Amino acid sequence: MSYNQKILNHFNLPKNVGELDENNDQVGSSLVGAPSCGDVLKFSIKIENNIIIDAKFLAFGCGAAIASSSLLTEKVIGKTLNEAEEISNQEIASELELPPIKYHCSVLAEEAIKDAIKDYKNKRIKS
Ligand code: FES
Repeated sequence: MSYNQKILNHFNLPKNVGELDENNDQVGSSLVGAPSCGDVLKFSIKIENNIIIDAKFLAFGCGAAIASSSLLTEKVIGKTLNEAEEISNQEIASELELPPIKYHCSVLAEEAIKDAIKDYKNKRIKS
């Protein structure tokens, strides 16, 4: 299967690779996996005044999962938590023009941002 240029751009030069300090109470993080293929995505966001000011990812996965994660980091930086929570895998799949067989790879990205926001909110409740 061949990937289009949008996917290749993110895959060859992924944006915001890395991770943020999970012990920082301004950071929310997640670790999600796709049981069907075993791919794993670690995602973290840093929040200030309800705005996501930074996002990083580490992925052990296919090209579509890496491209979805890279695009997701670009999309969430600058958004409020509510806006970021609204991002769907369909939105990511459509922006990257993922082939139908690769739609499920973008599900990891949607789960990752939702879980990272949940983690951040849970930290706020506990502190
Ligand atoms: Fe596993 Fe793409 S094949 S996330």
